[in-house]
Amino acid sequence: MLENIEINIKEDKEDKENIKILGIETSCDETAASVVINGRIVKSNVISSSSEYQSIFGGVVPEVASRKHIENIGKVVDKSLKDAKITLKEINAIAVTNSPGLIGSLLVGLNFAKALSYASNIPFIAVNHLHGHISSCYLESNIKPPFMCLIVSGGHTLLVHVKDYLKNEILGTTTDDAVGEAYDKIARILDLPYPGGPKLDNLASIGKKNIDFPMSFANDGLNFSYSGLKSSVINYINTQKMKNSEIIKEDIAASFQKAAIDILIIKIKRALENTKLNTVAICGGVACNSYLRYSVSKLAKEENVNIHIPKTIYCTDNGAMIASAGFYKFLNKEFSDLATNAYSTNPHII
Ligand code: KG4
Ligand code: ZN
Repeated sequence: MLENIEINIKEDKEDKENIKILGIETSCDETAASVVINGRIVKSNVISSSSEYQSIFGGVVPEVASRKHIENIGKVVDKSLKDAKITLKEINAIAVTNSPGLIGSLLVGLNFAKALSYASNIPFIAVNHLHGHISSCYLESNIKPPFMCLIVSGGHTLLVHVKDYLKNEILGTTTDDAVGEAYDKIARILDLPYPGGPKLDNLASIGKKNIDFPMSFANDGLNFSYSGLKSSVINYINTQKMKNSEIIKEDIAASFQKAAIDILIIKIKRALENTKLNTVAICGGVACNSYLRYSVSKLAKEENVNIHIPKTIYCTDNGAMIASAGFYKFLNKEFSDLATNAYSTNPHII
């Protein structure tokens, strides 16, 4: 049924035609809420991140994240409605992330959404965070399934065949660390402040790719592994220290980045060959990475495929992507009840 839906990225004059979803996201350290019309038109996008506060600890402390969500969620949701110039009464459904993520953080968003739904008699829809990341591709764009989607974030590295708005097949995943996690760990080793991914990306841009770090599983399959790469960067730094040799941080950053990203490109290429798809979308926080963006556009030219990368603000965690995923579940009448729970891990994207 959803396969043939019309893509409406212009608002109709007749307001009843427009489905307005309030999306709430609290799976990690961002408290986010957004109002999205028809899964694509973003009317507001409010994000309050505790990452600066978390940087004191060098990473996300789950209890601190949950407490920050409790402090911020009311204000963030209020602002998302005000910015959208929409009242709660006009909202058709409340979509909220209920898995995967930090359990305490998820519970804050989920319970807030349940309470709001109960008090205002508006249905609520539980959304998988990864389904949200895939749906970030629809925001302010015309892209339609089927397409190949690479989700690269702090917690996930997934290659997904998006067959329809509510139908995905996971083709490859990481067997250990996620690529964003590897970025954050190496950044920490290089004394870059948390969140390290973007800072490592900047440092790499002035370095030379002159250290040969290994790529795992390069020769077969569509799975990923980043623990070997991480160990080899640590070993390299330790060996340099033992030899009293110079440690050039920008060269380590550039060489690490080359190994971490080149393997993603190899796997995308292989997945395209296997599926014969001709569109690739990249989403999740690491999709902000400059070398990944450059490498993917090069691949697009070489392989003659279409590339879609959402705006950077929709790549990192946000409520708009959750609202968009919620819209497609709304069309399919997939509502949740008050007994819906939160889950820290969940292998099912939908
Ligand atoms: O999607 P996201 O906001 O949260 C998760 O669902 O995990 O992704 C956050 C991850 C972090 O690991 C962060 O370091 C990484 O995305 N990241 C980057 C860049 N910007 C964010 N990694 C590499 N280069 C970047 N420019
Ligand atoms: Zn995420």
